[in-house]
Amino acid sequence: MGKEIIVSGIRPTGNLHLGNYLGAVSNFVKMQHEHHCFFFIADYHSLTTHPNPADLHQNVRQVLVEYLACGLDPEACTLYIQSDLPQIPELYMLLNMHAYMGELERVASFKEKARTQPNNINAGLLTYPVLMAADIIIHKATKVPVGKDQEQHLEMARTFGNRFNRMYQQEIFPEPYAFNYGKELIKVPGLQGGGKMSKSDGDNNVINLIDSPELIRKKMSRAVTDTGPTEPNTIPSPAVQNLFDLMGLVSSQDKLSHYQERYANCSIRYGDFKKDLAEDLINYLAPAREKIEAISANNTLLKQVVERGKEKAIASAAKTIKECREAIGFRSF
Ligand code: ADP
Ligand code: TRP
Repeated sequence: MGKEIIVSGIRPTGNLHLGNYLGAVSNFVKMQHEHHCFFFIADYHSLTTHPNPADLHQNVRQVLVEYLACGLDPEACTLYIQSDLPQIPELYMLLNMHAYMGELERVASFKEKARTQPNNINAGLLTYPVLMAADIIIHKATKVPVGKDQEQHLEMARTFGNRFNRMYQQEIFPEPYAFNYGKELIKVPGLQGGGKMSKSDGDNNVINLIDSPELIRKKMSRAVTDTGPTEPNTIPSPAVQNLFDLMGLVSSQDKLSHYQERYANCSIRYGDFKKDLAEDLINYLAPAREKIEAISANNTLLKQVVERGKEKAIASAAKTIKECREAIGFRSF
């Protein structure tokens, strides 16, 4: 594959967890050296839920710190904050003129929000996919590393880009498609027996990169298991399988095999198993946690990173906006 233009945004909603790291950020770290990458913090998108200003700033800062700690290199990629680019709201507004109420109302994420928060269905929520399309096509991205839940938004980004091209008889925007690094999508399981590790299922379901060793031990001791195998060679319950899967991600193969054998011959003690897994999680995350602490204390560095990202991102976005304005007929005298 040749060099692609890649864009990915993350809403600043708190700390990154192991699922975010293994499922997304660790791939970004590889991609940044192979493609032309734009990674940004989607702070405009988070306004749909009206965060308080101090929390918003803190959450943006924390994602930035954690992205850097995970290895995103502001020289290799373009790392920026969405609200630093005035070109994004400009393109969003232009795209809104060709976005139909009907198609926006049919979006699954909108319908879900309309159902779960009937008292806050604002226009920003309705046009969330337009803003996301602007994020993507402003850099003429061809690939977007997102999970299945964002597929419909991505399809709309293609629709809006194509519609703009057609409307003004120009080939400004290429079509962006989902991008899975190395084909295989890692799914990090949660601790509470359900599906994937996700902060929407509460803090006890996730291991955050900054969780202290004590907190990791506590969360692991509360991780859901079952009453244990009573017959040899049975299939583990989903909750126990989740913990085996987690061990597969952070522990040695020998250790995993050891506990799998003990499960198969019914001699496993979940207490020991979970304690052992907790220690491996602690060791696995220790380097990231140390880096997070060091970077968080270095405001000068953060300032430089934000400035550099803004400069690079604006250079790219301004070029596209210039083409759009020309196409629309906003021309100079
Ligand atoms: P959450 O589900 O905790 O709200 P987000 O939806 O903000 O997480 O996810 C941000 C990125 O991290 C997305 O690219 C998503 O695919 C990835 N991600 C989140 N949780 C997991 C997980 N458990 N396993 C793999 N990838 C994940
Ligand atoms: N909607 C995405 C999410 O909830 C975040 C996002 C906003 C995004 N703009 C984007 C992702 C552009 C990729 C590209 O996860």
